[in-house]
Amino acid sequence: MARIQQLPLLAQRLDGKVALITGGARGIGEFMAKLFCKHGAKVVIADIRDQLGQALQHEIGTECATYVHCDVSKETDVENAVNITVSKYGKLDIMVNNAAISDDAKPNILDNDVTDFERVVRVNLVGPFLGTKHAARVMIPAKRGSIIIVGSVSSSVGGVASHAYTSSKHAIVGLAKNTAAELGQFGIRVNSLSCYCIHNELAKDFFKLDDEGFSNIYSNLKGVTLKEEDVAQAALYLASDESKYISGHNLAVDGGFTTINPSFGLFSQF
Ligand SMILES: NC(=O)c1ccc[n+]([C@@H]2O[C@H](COP(=O)([O-])OP(=O)(O)OC[C@H]3O[C@@H](n4cnc5c(N)ncnc54)[C@H](O)[C@@H]3O)[C@@H](O)[C@H]2O)c1
Repeated sequence: MARIQQLPLLAQRLDGKVALITGGARGIGEFMAKLFCKHGAKVVIADIRDQLGQALQHEIGTECATYVHCDVSKETDVENAVNITVSKYGKLDIMVNNAAISDDAKPNILDNDVTDFERVVRVNLVGPFLGTKHAARVMIPAKRGSIIIVGSVSSSVGGVASHAYTSSKHAIVGLAKNTAAELGQFGIRVNSLSCYCIHNELAKDFFKLDDEGFSNIYSNLKGVTLKEEDVAQAALYLASDESKYISGHNLAVDGGFTTINPSFGLFSQF
């Protein structure tokens, strides 16, 4: 009779693992840092918000979490964050390229500045490239690892966010697929994780919506609201051995938003 492989069923789904999370000082990254530690991982939080990052390190506990200043658009910073992780905890099992920024919502391309476009691409695309590169540097000799790049619904549909943000988020899906193709030979998995809008600082800055505005935005899935912890749970799955054969995948956490077109058809909602 076929046997079901024994996997840890309860709390410690990342027992003994070491993770580096960029943009981990607040928002979704903060929830990932807390959840990963709860599941037994040591976590390095890499961010440019030093006060928030240090406060989070103390809140989680310094035996489990370490804060490091790291601007993901600078290769030396990313290289340093990976090196600190390995020197402190001996290895790197999980790399989460989560840090990203949005730009101002300017609906006319003629108002879009090339410098703003490049600034967004530098953080949202070059950052994950550098994170993936330096994670691979230490994961290849270990012949294992899980790399996650955080995308968005703007990784697969147009019209939600700015040109710069949408372009960068589409591009990270390609980056994840291409690096998954290369790094599979070393036992390293690379996936993207793309979520819908969450009522937090990043989305508030971009959409300029108050609480009521947020509660009225379209969602295909009724009765639930997407929260940071839901995205962190999906990241936990991709980080853990439970997803050991999943690579090159873009995991949508969007209640069906990017796969369903509600504007026409049998289930039309408009
Ligand atoms: N909030 C949403 O609605 C939403 C929706 C879809 C996808 N996402 C994605 O989720 C991820 C996390 O976003 P969030 O909502 O938690 O945003 P957030 O702004 O709350 O957190 C982002 C973190 O990244 C950090 N950061 C920014 N630039 C950096 C840099 N150059 N180097 C290092 N760190 C930097 C910030 O300091 C911050 O701590 C992003 O990739 C974002 O695109 C968010």
